[in-house]
Amino acid sequence: MKKGLFISFEGPDGAGKSTQLAMLSDYCRSRGLDITVTREPGGTAISEKIRQIILDPENKEMSAGCEALLYAASRAQLVDEFIRPAVAEGKIVLCDRFVDSSIAYQAYARKLGEGVRTINIFATGGTMPDRTFFLNIDPEKGRERNVDAGKKDRMEQEELSFHRAVYEGYKRIAEMEPERVIVIDADRRAERVFEDIKREFDRLIEEAEQ
Ligand code: TYD
Repeated sequence: MKKGLFISFEGPDGAGKSTQLAMLSDYCRSRGLDITVTREPGGTAISEKIRQIILDPENKEMSAGCEALLYAASRAQLVDEFIRPAVAEGKIVLCDRFVDSSIAYQAYARKLGEGVRTINIFATGGTMPDRTFFLNIDPEKGRERNVDAGKKDRMEQEELSFHRAVYEGYKRIAEMEPERVIVIDADRRAERVFEDIKREFDRLIEEAEQ
């Protein structure tokens, strides 16, 4: 592959993104593909520090605007320091969440609207994933899966109504960008979910190699 690929995973909390990301990265390695994995918020030393501030349950007074800007700041660093150089070197970058999370959580659920898109265009310089896997699961089921996940971070502590709004946001994004966003039914066994992801991924690699 001459140019690398940038692939993101999205979905409500508890959709199983981390499991699918791990399965896809194992699969890539078994095929000898040059891949690298990262996550949001985080992925660089600076972005991980920003992550701690964002998710700290103590930061109850954080305003919605501050939250959106911190996610965008973390992303700006990740894109400049890591994603853009890796793609330029021909690597496949798998990212746990990206701009769509800010659209779903901050623009829709926090009701901040279009401004969120604007700050993210600034933050990323327009870098967007080549493909996004949206793991589609009802937010209530996602929360059930997360029950044993230990102490809840600031976002996980939000009401179910907030997570419903996030989910509606994701569905809108998928409707608006059907070419980029692949909807995957995530309410199944992990192996079955992965079969669909693998099929789409193989197709994408084939296109990229042509
Ligand atoms: P994380 O522990 O990575 O959650 P998950 O395993 O569900 O991905 O925490 C990230 C949280 O931040 C998650 O609740 C989603 C939220 N988030 C936003 O609200 N906006 C964003 O732009 C991003 C990247 C994440």
